[in-house]
This record gives sequence, structure tokens and C-alpha cells, in this order.
Amino acid sequence: MRIKFAAVALIPFAAVFVLRATVHAQPPTKSIWDGVYTEEQTTRGKALYSQECASCHGGELTGGEMAPPLAGGEFMAGWDGLTIGDLFERVRISMPQNAPGSLSGQQNADILAFIFSSNKFPAGATEMPKEAGILKQIKFEVKKP
Ligand code: HEC
Repeated sequence: MRIKFAAVALIPFAAVFVLRATVHAQPPTKSIWDGVYTEEQTTRGKALYSQECASCHGGELTGGEMAPPLAGGEFMAGWDGLTIGDLFERVRISMPQNAPGSLSGQQNADILAFIFSSNKFPAGATEMPKEAGILKQIKFEVKKP
């Protein structure tokens, strides 16, 4: 009886896994250069960044004693060819390092908008959504395609 219950309980997890794998399998259809966040989002993100991230990553995103920079060549090169969704997930799961997972999806999206703006990627007319699956369709690329 117990084993049967455990198997049934696992079904939703399996379904989510399959869904994620499917989304991930599709190649990104958009680029970070397409204007994937708004100026307004950047303003919100800047305030959140100051509160939640600047103590370690620096007020100018140049990094700190332990924390790496979140702007500039080294940061850009590290994410080149990956997707915005990958970066979103990285932050969602592991940051802020002293309280991982404490921020909402909306807050993380706003902070990412600020980081993209600081890296000179263009703003656009539509807010960046907070769904990792959608963000995995947007490629992070250093060079404008
Ligand atoms: C208590 C210090 C601390 C705070 C606060 C913090 N971070 Fe970090 N962060 C780190 C350290 C240390 C690393 C490198 C080690 C690691 O990956 O855990 C890191 C790594 C990262 C990386 C990976 C960088 C790369 O290019 O590989 C990202 C992105 C990031 N942090 C974003 C954020 C964001 C966004 C916030 C605010 C919501 C934040 N961090 C808050 C300490 C911190």
C-alpha cells in the first residue's frame, strides 16, 4: 500500500520533469537584443538590487571580495550562448546567497532587467515575464545577431 502511494505521489513531479525537458529541448527563438524588458522594470530592479544584491556584488555590479561581477566582459562571457531562463533559474535557486529563494519570481525578473540594462542590452515595450520556461526561449548572446 505504501509503495503504491509513493508511486502515485511521484506522478506530478515526473510530469513537471517531462514538461521542462520539452521546453528546454526547443532552441531559443528570441535574443536578449530584442528588447526583452522595460525601463520601468529596470527602475524597480535597481532598488531591489541595492537592497538584496549590492552588499556582495557591489553597487556598480563590479563584484566584491567573494562575489563575481554581474556586469562587464567576464560576466557576459560566462553566460554567452545560454538563455535568460538559465540565468533566471541560477538566481532563483541560489541567490541572494545568504537567503536563497527568498525573492519572488517578479522580483528576480525585475533585478535581471536592471542587470541587462547595466550590461547595455536594450529595453523594449514588453515586461520580461517571470516564467523560466518562456525565458528559456530567449538567448543570452554577447554579440548582436
Ligand atoms: C551574501 C552575498 C551575496 C548576495 C547578497 C548575493 N550574492 Fe550572488 N553570488 C555570491 C557569491 C559568493 C557568488 C559566487 C558563488 C556562488 O555561485 O554561489 C554569487 C554568484 C552569483 C551569480 C553567478 C554569476 C556568474 O556569472 O556565474 C549571479 C547571477 C548572482 N550571484 C546574482 C545575484 C543576485 C541577482 C543577487 C540579489 C538578488 C545576489 N546574487 C545576491 C554572493 C552573493
